Amino acid sequence: PHGRDLAGRRIVVSAGGTREPLDPVRFLGNRSSGKQGVAIAEAAAARGADVTLVAANLEVGEPGGCRVRAVSTALELREAMVEAAAAADVVVMAAAVADFRPASVSEAKIKKVDGEERMTLELVRNPDILAELGAAPHDGTLLVGFAAETEPDSERLLELGRGKRRAKGADLLVVNHVGWSKGFAADENAVSIIGPSDEVLAEASGSKMSVAHGILDVVAARLARGDD
Ligand code: C5P
Repeated sequence: PHGRDLAGRRIVVSAGGTREPLDPVRFLGNRSSGKQGVAIAEAAAARGADVTLVAANLEVGEPGGCRVRAVSTALELREAMVEAAAAADVVVMAAAVADFRPASVSEAKIKKVDGEERMTLELVRNPDILAELGAAPHDGTLLVGFAAETEPDSERLLELGRGKRRAKGADLLVVNHVGWSKGFAADENAVSIIGPSDEVLAEASGSKMSVAHGILDVVAARLARGDD
């Protein structure tokens, strides 16, 4: 039904989860597989968009038909997004970005010490990439954020999404419920898409590919209207 309704549109999608190194062999990471972001990139390419995928440690294969920029840490992801976003019609921040990184990265592998039963890691805040993109002038760029929450109550979940959209300056915010078996790594997803006036514009559920098309239906409609 959508055909090539995104032909000529430049779409940048971040996907996967960042890894923050502690030493040459260890990192702090998260359970994001990259499936939902990759599905969005693949679906956008199928609909004719010029797609750049900023890929952070994907557990799934890279989609065809997209330009792929591999990154690992939040700081690398930020650099790639800021560069790619400058010429984008749409930016989709689907990656799970670590909120903190180790304050220093040891050059040598960290050793355990006999008799020391505890160790303390000092972490520092990472930049909020979506909030930075939202705060910078971005006329002509539709900014789409995600909220992955473990809140079981759907009304409270939507409220968290609305607050996040406003706080980060995103135009659209995709809310989903995550848990140990839902959302992350799963093949299926269920989302609500919140618009600029806090309204629920659409809901989508099913395979991550059909959720991707549901999100892109909203994106394509807004681009066609020429707002945001
Ligand atoms: O605050 P929270 O992590 O729940 O927000 C999720 C949204 O913000 C996602 O779109 C995610 O890609 C983005 N984000 C970001 N930079 C961070 C943390 C989250 O861009 N440091």
